[in-house]
Amino acid sequence: MKATPAMKALTAAPTEALNGQARVPGDKSISHRALMFGALSLGETRVSGLLEGEDVLSTAAALKKLGAEIERGADGTWSIWGRGLGALKEPDDVLDLGNSGTSARLLSGILASHPIVSVITGDASLRKRPMGRVTVPLGQMGAQFISRSGGRLPMTVVGSDSLLPISYELPVASAQVKSAILLAGLNTAGETEVIEPVATRDHTERMLKAFGAAITIEESTKGRHIRLLGQPELRACPVEVPADPSSAAFPLVAAALLEGSEVLLPDVAMNPARTGLIVTLKEMGADIALERERDVAGEPLADLRVRGGRLRGVSVPAGRAASMIDEYPVLFVAAACAQGRSHFAGLEELRVKESDRLAVMAEGLRACGVSLTEERNSLTVEGPGKRPKGGARIATHLDHRIAMSFLVLGLAAEKPVTVDDAGPIQTSFPGFVELMGGLGAKIAQGEEA
Ligand code: S3P
Repeated sequence: MKATPAMKALTAAPTEALNGQARVPGDKSISHRALMFGALSLGETRVSGLLEGEDVLSTAAALKKLGAEIERGADGTWSIWGRGLGALKEPDDVLDLGNSGTSARLLSGILASHPIVSVITGDASLRKRPMGRVTVPLGQMGAQFISRSGGRLPMTVVGSDSLLPISYELPVASAQVKSAILLAGLNTAGETEVIEPVATRDHTERMLKAFGAAITIEESTKGRHIRLLGQPELRACPVEVPADPSSAAFPLVAAALLEGSEVLLPDVAMNPARTGLIVTLKEMGADIALERERDVAGEPLADLRVRGGRLRGVSVPAGRAASMIDEYPVLFVAAACAQGRSHFAGLEELRVKESDRLAVMAEGLRACGVSLTEERNSLTVEGPGKRPKGGARIATHLDHRIAMSFLVLGLAAEKPVTVDDAGPIQTSFPGFVELMGGLGAKIAQGEEA
């Protein structure tokens, strides 16, 4: 993408070490779901620690247009007064979901199961992303969709309150697809079943239980069977949102790479379907300790203490991809600073994220002097065992995690790294620059000095 004057460049300069303590913002996945389930329940759902990033605010704005009452209290607690299951109203305008794939996919399930007509769209990144993965199963249930070619947004959804329940085996490991079907199943009489051959994040299942839905999970040779009995009485339920492990990944990797660092990241969600990065960094030799491990509101969490040191190359199997799908960009940065070769398999889903993360990371890392081989669904990185060159200007392609990953690289490189547009960081990690700066990271506005 060509930089325009409205874009805000940021530059990260080589930094010695990071030190201190920082709580990263609330978990994005849990925040979206807290708003959505609150809007489908009767009564007041109070949410503390909600991520106030643009993606989650897009979900809140859409739910308001659908008739839910949503307010932020002076103390930062959010209240949602739902209308009850099946009672959302037709929006009188297009629902613009900005950059947020989770909003688009999960709301598709909600819209499909209401007798209303709605139109959803998003920014240039979201309008490129495939929606067929949700419209195929929701279409089988009886909803109708008119999208642009290739199943792209904008898309009209013609919903119904008399959908048919389905049993659907996920062809891609996607929590968004699983959740869209379960959300549609909520307002559908009978039993909706999703079978996932590879486990994906299960925040939807955990939260549905907490809100009173009848949901069971059974393992078989085919994978995880999630069965939901439709039309439960959903009751409002308080939600405490833990810190987002996908955001913690940036200070975590930066501190792990910079010798002499010691950083404490409190209250990070440790859902086993989200911890692939920690497993992998430990295999690379990172010193990461989980402290005060506990359960809060049905989700496991811990404080993460990380100390900097030397990392070595690693081979990450395809089977681990779902548990760290959003963390690959910053993990590639870790591999680009480690000693020895790293190999990452099973990366096909990276091509349909906010950008084609495999291609964009490969191109940017090459520009920073890193040797690598990109294949259709894998990446091999040759770790130099010292600071990579850096000194490049990276196009972020409306992708928050591309921006933050290359800023982490700039801290650990020989020369500063600039990202052309830091705006997308607001989608998931408001306060990123200030938080990293508080730990000692040299990140400043503008091009390289
Ligand atoms: C999410 C699931 C993941 C992830 C996204 C959030 C969710 O997408 O990449 O950032 O909240 O369900 P997929 O499930 O499509 O891989």
